[in-house]
Amino acid sequence: VTLIIQPETSPAFVSGSPLGKIAFGGDYNPEQWTDAVAEEDIALMHEAGVNLVSVGIFSWTMLEPEPGRYDFRRMDEILDRLHRGGISVDLATPTAAPPQWFLAAHPDSVPVRQDGTRAGTASRQVFCPSSPEYREAAAAITRAIVDRYHDHPAVVMWHVHNEYGCHNGRCYCDGSAAAFRQWLKARYGTLDALNDAWGNAFWSQTLTAWDQVVAPRTAPTFLNPAHELDYARFSSDELLACYTAERDIIKAASPDAIVTTNLMAGQFGLLDYWKWAAELDMVSTDHYLFGEAERNHVDLALAADLTRSLAHGRPWLLMEHSTGAVNWQPRNIAKRSGEMARNSLTHLARGADGILFFQWRASIAGAEKYHSAMLPHAGTDSRIWRETRELGEQLSGLASVAGSRVHTEIAILFDYHAWWAADLGGRPSEDIRYADQIRRTYDALWDAGYTVDFAHPESDLSRYRLVVAPALYLVSDAGAANIASFHDRGGSVVVGYFSGIVDSVDRVRVGRYPGAFRELLGASSDEFLPLRRGQKVTLSTGATASLWSEPVRADDAEIIARYTDGPAAGAAAITRRQRAWYVSTQLAPDDLRGFYVAVADSAGIARPVERPEGVEVVERRTDETRYLFVINHTDDEAAIDLPGQPWFLEVSSPGRATVSGDGLRVPPGGVGVLRW
Ligand code: GAL
Repeated sequence: VTLIIQPETSPAFVSGSPLGKIAFGGDYNPEQWTDAVAEEDIALMHEAGVNLVSVGIFSWTMLEPEPGRYDFRRMDEILDRLHRGGISVDLATPTAAPPQWFLAAHPDSVPVRQDGTRAGTASRQVFCPSSPEYREAAAAITRAIVDRYHDHPAVVMWHVHNEYGCHNGRCYCDGSAAAFRQWLKARYGTLDALNDAWGNAFWSQTLTAWDQVVAPRTAPTFLNPAHELDYARFSSDELLACYTAERDIIKAASPDAIVTTNLMAGQFGLLDYWKWAAELDMVSTDHYLFGEAERNHVDLALAADLTRSLAHGRPWLLMEHSTGAVNWQPRNIAKRSGEMARNSLTHLARGADGILFFQWRASIAGAEKYHSAMLPHAGTDSRIWRETRELGEQLSGLASVAGSRVHTEIAILFDYHAWWAADLGGRPSEDIRYADQIRRTYDALWDAGYTVDFAHPESDLSRYRLVVAPALYLVSDAGAANIASFHDRGGSVVVGYFSGIVDSVDRVRVGRYPGAFRELLGASSDEFLPLRRGQKVTLSTGATASLWSEPVRADDAEIIARYTDGPAAGAAAITRRQRAWYVSTQLAPDDLRGFYVAVADSAGIARPVERPEGVEVVERRTDETRYLFVINHTDDEAAIDLPGQPWFLEVSSPGRATVSGDGLRVPPGGVGVLRW
């Protein structure tokens, strides 16, 4: 086993932790409770090692019971009490929950669904992002909170809103349509340019006046996908404008404030998080396991790697996850003993500088009373409380990890616009879902043991040796050129099927497929040959594949594998030109994993630490120190050989990890963290 330390020239290695600690805590909603309970909270937070709580996320009505009348008494007490208790505050703007008085007064601010019906109001995130009345009211409450608390000693960071777009990512009301027209005017200038970009000549969709532009509500059949794609872009921008307006109010009073909003990286696709993350001082995200999904720890790892990538390698914050079951899945499966610790330490291993939960104390009323919390209904005489305390102890033992970085040499190219475009209607196969394609790629690399980043196709790729583009259906000219130049400078590239097909307005790049990459690949095809559901094809290497095939011709590339059966029998299936590989079909998981190991070897990437299947090994480091996190997702003890003399730093329940000689033993379901 060799753990090679790569030369650390990249700026990603400049250490530093925005919070200067590993944060531990959660959403704190004490408006639900009496003062006596709130006093007890502080004592119990101490017992658990809590050092940061998010306050006021949904407290708009408490703070502004009537339009323009503010009442800060409870919030003053809450913040002062936390401050006396030495617990830091991530103070929220409450704009994700407009008050009922606001909704009653402004029915036009209530969002409209794609089918044209208006949403009900008895819930949260009930607002249209383009509503001027909503934006005005949100700015006013934000200003009032910032004026009062910008120099409160407990407040160390700001939490704008909550999970933008989670319930109202796209609104189709007339006000949104009007705002969309303005957005389109700024993008295209003239109606002619818009008609041309959208291909409106087809189906008689040519617009002859701006007021004919509508929101893409449900129609008798397919909508024009270019229209839908721009609406997705517009909707992301509208919500982002809501965020930046509040952020700017905070910054005006407190220029050095750390301002964030909680993303839902990896689990939510309606916002362009690359664009969003650039506006956050510290990227933060929420992640919830799908309890019934197999290998949901891989989904968690993907989300964590994506969040770190959105943060450009800087430490980020896990703003929410759960201690146990959630309450919004069909069957809310409880986490078993040790699972919360494994989840938390996986996030930490992959670059988080804080582990927070929804929520501190379980509600006894309201929509989320059956959602787990750090302090459950059963109180302190409970497994979850004991494991919460244990986690607090473990995290305090890992304080020195704050600010360290994760180093990777492989990036998966990932773009929200490609996602939106690839998933629209009227495509060659509905079985290609962008998120699935990303997940399959990630899975294969996770199984092979590589830690990977995600990167935007137009971003600086120079720190990687290998980039992989699964189903990068839409790619801009700049993105395609960036990928080609990465290759020309010595990088290795894997292009997956259904990549490089359209430009940034969803117009097909004519000539043989894949238009954007055929020169880079030296291989191309003249047809898509999607497979039937469940159909398998075989390749000359013995690999099996499904979902897609193409009659690939390798004009300037080596043929690595051919189709031996199926509609493309005899044609090339996998090709290689220099360091550019084309994979024209969906390889079975084991074959895909083997393929990536071979490509990574040829790209000069060191093999990951050898470990049993189902055991995750991730490294964080500073210039002086390396931390190795070993997370055992199996029911067996995991033994790992390690070079040198590691310092045993910390382990997590259940059971104890042990180091002896050059080996580490991690109990079933346990975690070991080592320090060199
Ligand atoms: C999140 C949300 C929280 C809470 C949580 C429950 O989406 O931000 O407020 O509802 O889900 O899992």
